[in-house]
Amino acid sequence: MTTGTGLYIVLVSIHGLIRGHDLELGRDADTGGQITYVVELARALIAHPDVQKVDVLTRRVIDPKIHHDYGEPFEDVAPGATIVRLPCGPRRYLRKEVLWPYLDSFIDHALQHVRRVGRIPDLIHSHYADAGYVGARLAGLLGIPLIHTGHSLGRVKRKRLIEQGMKRSIIESHYSMNQRIEAEETVLDSAARVIASTRQEVDEQYSLYDNYQPRRMRVIPPGIDLSRFHPPARGEPAPPIRRVLERFLHDPDKPMILALSRPDERKNIATLIKAYAENTALRELANLVLVLGNRDDISGLERGPREVLTDLLLLVDRYDLYGSIAFPKHHDAQDVPDLYRFAAKTHGIFVNPALTEPFGLTLVEASASGLPIIATEDGGPRDIIGYCKNGLLINPLDAQRMGEAILEVLTNRERWRRWSKSGVRGAHQYFSWSSHVRRYLTSVHKVIERSVRTASTFKGRLPTVDRMLVCDIDNTLLGDPAALKELLERVRHVNGNVGFGVASGRRIETLLRALKEWDIPLPYLFISSVGSEIHYGPRIIEDSGWQKHIHYRWKPEALRAAISSLPGIRLQAQESQRKYKISYYINPYSAPSLREIKRHLRKQDLHANVIYSHQRYLDLLPIRASKGLALRYIALKWGIPLERFLVAGDSGNDEEMLSGNTLGVVVGNYSPELERLRGKPRIYFAQGHYAWGVIEGIEHYNFLGEVSIPNEEL
Ligand code: GLC
Ligand code: MG
Repeated sequence: MTTGTGLYIVLVSIHGLIRGHDLELGRDADTGGQITYVVELARALIAHPDVQKVDVLTRRVIDPKIHHDYGEPFEDVAPGATIVRLPCGPRRYLRKEVLWPYLDSFIDHALQHVRRVGRIPDLIHSHYADAGYVGARLAGLLGIPLIHTGHSLGRVKRKRLIEQGMKRSIIESHYSMNQRIEAEETVLDSAARVIASTRQEVDEQYSLYDNYQPRRMRVIPPGIDLSRFHPPARGEPAPPIRRVLERFLHDPDKPMILALSRPDERKNIATLIKAYAENTALRELANLVLVLGNRDDISGLERGPREVLTDLLLLVDRYDLYGSIAFPKHHDAQDVPDLYRFAAKTHGIFVNPALTEPFGLTLVEASASGLPIIATEDGGPRDIIGYCKNGLLINPLDAQRMGEAILEVLTNRERWRRWSKSGVRGAHQYFSWSSHVRRYLTSVHKVIERSVRTASTFKGRLPTVDRMLVCDIDNTLLGDPAALKELLERVRHVNGNVGFGVASGRRIETLLRALKEWDIPLPYLFISSVGSEIHYGPRIIEDSGWQKHIHYRWKPEALRAAISSLPGIRLQAQESQRKYKISYYINPYSAPSLREIKRHLRKQDLHANVIYSHQRYLDLLPIRASKGLALRYIALKWGIPLERFLVAGDSGNDEEMLSGNTLGVVVGNYSPELERLRGKPRIYFAQGHYAWGVIEGIEHYNFLGEVSIPNEEL
């Protein structure tokens, strides 16, 4: 079992294609900015001395149409940082909107991964709604804090689609929008911190949610790999792209007004052209350079870019901008930093006139290159200029003012120099990955400390234990205070590899009350209501997978109606009735026998697990539920072999968990219905009563040492 001193952080990002090299960004809508973010975050986190291990959990894809890299179960992206690919539904590639039904199985695979690692992460950080759904459950099951980054939000998207005139029914069928939004609300319920990229995301986007809790939200802008962006060096030779500009411009060394974006109408390049063209002084002083993607033939493009570029050509012609405007047909990745740097060398400016700009990556790149900026007054630019203090905000619809603002910046040389310098400094200080991680860790350290403080006093947690002691409560654990005290001492003093759980007929509320009354520290596992419910400590998180699992063939109304005609059986009080448990008192003398009751139900095509205890209780549970079945579900889910469960009980509802491969202990004060277990393998009938019997059983199996089963090879 590895226990490290540094943090172990698990990032979850499920959809799209994630690998450590040559990201296929833009290959489809799911493989974009989030993928870069997650991979770079993993690298930046592991580079920090406080972090010891980072896993990125994502979906494993095996599909002839997709590179085989995405089918590899493990890939190291840096020493200590690994992409872990887990099965999630069909093997083929699926778009994110259809992954919902498979996320529960992803959760189970994630738990198995934690068990293989042998160490509980300190933190889970989920990305986007699908991972949020997974992260919220995992964090609950593991009892650790959850951090969430939305990347984009369902309520915002739905609003936009409705504004664009899309029908609600289509939004729902294509985008599984309700499911996404429900997952987002759930993750906001459980996340200790939500990380947003901009202030605006918090104020205007998260505020659309029922669970809007701004005090749990932190604005930490994503890191940007700025290694390629730096200001021009003195005497640096002109870059290759200058040759391209020469074909357009009379004097390429005039101050350059640079804009760089996709040829998309929302980027509002036409207004920038007008702002420039209608300002004579500006035309005199500077060149306008527009880098709008790559193209071969405008007439062959899709309608959107075709219209934007056609419009551009018409404006150039109308305003007669020949010789002072450039719009290169082609550029490659290295030309981009060169362009910023060359623009800075001419004492130029970078302009982003987009109609809306939630983030604005290019603005940070330009800043890091020493180029002052002018941008639309919106979330991203507001934050960037706020941090970098290197430019002006403008109204994207006001061409005249835009032209004036550009001229102002270009003509005030002293201020230009100041802005150029503070932009370089600000970009690195606020937008590098190392600064992101510094702020990130400061924020999460507090969350982690708090979660450690509230943890239960029992050390062993399900994902790391190698054996479990599971006790019934009434008449097994409880009954003799001195015995209980002795038992707890023993369990508490062993290492974290022994887990402790309780299994009871009580409902969870009264079960917790009993533990409190008897001063029993909270265990990590609670099987309650005769096995129909499972919860995990310390925060009493319900295992919703179990509820789904046992729902099968459960018809409570019909069962109740069928039993009501039988003599000698009456319902227990309302509070003993649960969603998956119907409980009766039974008079064994006047009621039909158990076998008759079962036949009576089956004849009506009704199915239930019928459990008889203490010669006075009768419980009906779904056929998939009982204490014993709950225990087997837990063994499977958490990867603990059944022969590593020591189970102690005293009455009929314990029978199933005592039987089979588990190490059974029947305490001395057992009730007669357990007599039939006598002589069965792996059932130890203790002499001692109550917890003394449990202690005797622990010794019988040498459970806290090298587990062994007398008369049997393990
Ligand atoms: C507990 C429950 C009761 C159940 C009995 C036997 O006493 O409160 O509802 O019938 O256990 O399982
Ligand atoms: Mg009992």
